[in-house]
Amino acid sequence: MIRRMNFCWMVKPQLLAVIFIRILLGHVQVVECFTFDFPLFKPEGQNGLILSDFSRIFRDAIQVTPDAYGEDLKNRSGRAFYNKAYRVWSNKKNQTASFNTSFIFNISPNTPSNPGAGEGLAFILAADTSLPPNSYGRWLGIVNSSTNGTSDAAILAVEFDTRNNSPDDGPNGHVGVNVNSIYSIKQVPLLPLGINISSGVNVSVRIQYDNDVISVFGYMMNGSQEDLLLQSSPLNLTSHLPEKVYLGFSASTSNFNELNCIRSWQFDGEDIGDGNQDLLWVWITAPTVGVIIAGAAIFLLIWRWRRRGEITEDAYPRIEDQIKCSSMAPKKFRLREIKRATANFNEHNKLGEGGFGTVYKGMLGNREIAVKRVSKDSRQGKQEFIAEVTTIGSLHHKNLVKLIGWCYERNELLLVYEFMPNGSLDRYLFERSDGSPYQNLYWETRYNVIKGVAEALDYLHNGCDKKVIHRDIKASNIMLDSDFNAKLGDFGLARTIQKRNDTHHSTQGIAGTPGYMAPETFLTGRATVETDVYAFGVMIMEVVCGKRPGKVTIENDYKNSVVYWVWEMYGNGKTLDGVDKRIKKEIEGDEERVERVIMLGLACCHPNPHKRPSMKTVSQVLTGEVAPPDVPRERPAFMWPAAPPSFNVHDSSVTSAGLTPPFTQLTGR
Ligand SMILES: *[C@@H]1O[C@H](CO)[C@@H](O)[C@H](O)[C@H]1NC(C)=O
Ligand SMILES: *[C@@H]1O[C@H](CO)[C@@H](O)[C@H](O)[C@H]1NC(C)=O
Ligand SMILES: *[C@@H]1O[C@H](CO)[C@@H](O)[C@H](O)[C@H]1NC(C)=O
Ligand SMILES: *[C@@H]1O[C@H](CO)[C@@H](O)[C@H](O)[C@H]1NC(C)=O
Ligand SMILES: *[C@@H]1O[C@H](CO)[C@@H](O)[C@H](O)[C@H]1NC(C)=O
Ligand SMILES: *[C@@H]1O[C@H](CO)[C@@H](O)[C@H](O)[C@H]1NC(C)=O
Repeated sequence: MIRRMNFCWMVKPQLLAVIFIRILLGHVQVVECFTFDFPLFKPEGQNGLILSDFSRIFRDAIQVTPDAYGEDLKNRSGRAFYNKAYRVWSNKKNQTASFNTSFIFNISPNTPSNPGAGEGLAFILAADTSLPPNSYGRWLGIVNSSTNGTSDAAILAVEFDTRNNSPDDGPNGHVGVNVNSIYSIKQVPLLPLGINISSGVNVSVRIQYDNDVISVFGYMMNGSQEDLLLQSSPLNLTSHLPEKVYLGFSASTSNFNELNCIRSWQFDGEDIGDGNQDLLWVWITAPTVGVIIAGAAIFLLIWRWRRRGEITEDAYPRIEDQIKCSSMAPKKFRLREIKRATANFNEHNKLGEGGFGTVYKGMLGNREIAVKRVSKDSRQGKQEFIAEVTTIGSLHHKNLVKLIGWCYERNELLLVYEFMPNGSLDRYLFERSDGSPYQNLYWETRYNVIKGVAEALDYLHNGCDKKVIHRDIKASNIMLDSDFNAKLGDFGLARTIQKRNDTHHSTQGIAGTPGYMAPETFLTGRATVETDVYAFGVMIMEVVCGKRPGKVTIENDYKNSVVYWVWEMYGNGKTLDGVDKRIKKEIEGDEERVERVIMLGLACCHPNPHKRPSMKTVSQVLTGEVAPPDVPRERPAFMWPAAPPSFNVHDSSVTSAGLTPPFTQLTGR
């Protein structure tokens, strides 16, 4: 079964989809249309029309022959064509096109003194758009005396002849179908049909060509508007016309003249295409398939592009899945937002640089932010990124650096923090390598910093849903806000301890920073809450003494460490000797508190992890709620395995909580 579908050039996408589906379903012969519609004519750009010298657009109509008074109207001819050629037949396909066209014409005798209207107007299909010379008068712009009756004319005309001017011609007012000639193959007088074509009244005409028959319908628009079949003639276009022709009108005047206007025009024709049918199919299916494939490709690309930013190492669940578990998840930013905030990671916005990557300052709206751009190529960077987002992102404490958001796009690992105007703690404690001056921190500020970090660690170890081990407590990871409040940051090494028991003990490299590492770390390679406490103890020494932690090795039993150094002074009863020179004067009168802090630091650095206080106890000591733990005068030697906690320890939290189980390794580092 063959179904014919007529549709037009101005195809809507939905239609295209429907057609494509129908083509897929088969047995559909697609017929395209060549169509245009001029409800009226406007002079601008000539409407896509080709007009001969004496034709023009005026009063919303094509004046095929001149219309203006004062201009010579006599012995004129003109032609007007639609500017695209139309294929009326195809030799390759052995097919002729069928078409319908409708137009309204108006022929007015122009002067009262006019002896009669002349000559007429025709709808034409012509090979050539040029007006034949000397085609005025009886020739109606269709042919001239030399082309008349020859195949050179290559024209089909449906003439509306207003004037009889030869014995061979029809009466005044007739319709005829002419092929390459002014003589009609058939002519029909119109007056008997009640149609006076030169009365100045609009005449509506419809011409239909189908199955090698041409039919002409029409009526006067001031009358009954009954569409009359004016004439119908068999006509084989293929024998007379070239395959492609121009569609339009011609008209002429002689000593008898008239105004020949076309007021509107509409054409609807089958488009049998330029090539064979296969090509037509290609024309329709190729763009459709192309659009579908392109659409799918774009979709896939976007999908992959969006995913690429989120896929992590196989060993890790997707970041988003991890973050989803947290109700207070940090915001996920788009890369372009962060680029805008940091002026595309401008050098001038650089705050610092490290092994992990670079930190930039940025403005998000009117909020200051710090953006950590994790090194792209470090596998460690990616893991630290995940650790950071999944731990700190869900934590909220006044002494933790706030992670505002993150971004993982196009291999860019970005962390967005609140901006810390006073930078990191180490800047205030240690002389710079270049000897440049460094700002002092008051004892009171230092004490507050220690207290703040203790509270943050207590929160991490005991205060939140999951136990979080920071693993990298050190002065450079402690940030100071505008009021010099401590904010613990850099959770790149942090790990959460799952409360599940499926602990498997994979080997693990040593994490953290040498000098802050508890002695047992070198043997176990594991981070525990006790190792965090140890690092915190080292940090206390740094803050109080303004001294770097020192290079430590297990071989020399920490003899170079700040811990060893302070412990010796404590053993000699000169605990305060190690205090930073810059605060020595300031602590006068507050020596007891300073000493207590130092002893607390030493307790935290006890070689036996079981003897270290919990962070809860540390916090309580700092707020003065409980007394500092006893510290042996001599630093005990490091023993492994460590002696279990004795039962007379006063530190209730240690006995109740006990030693944390070995750290649950999520992955090897
Ligand atoms: C028009 O053409 C005819 C025949 O060619 C000629 O006799 C007549 O003088 C012409 N009229 C004008 C106004 O040129
Ligand atoms: C061309 O088509 C006509 C009618 O559509 C048919 O009679 C004729 O045999 C066809 N010629 C060829 C060569 O296919
Ligand atoms: C022309 O008009 C007739 C009658 O309205 C219609 O049957 C025919 O399909 C039309 N042909 C084209 C090519 O539009
Ligand atoms: C008729 O028109 C043709 C071009 O279509 C031209 O070559 C020829 O000279 C014209 N004949 C006369 C008598 O003007
Ligand atoms: C046709 O109309 C014109 C203008 O109204 C008029 O002069 C002429 O007599 C009419 N012809 C016939 C045959 O009625
Ligand atoms: C039309 O004319 C061509 C060429 O003269 C001829 O091959 C074809 O068979 C004709 N078609 C019909 C339907 O008569």
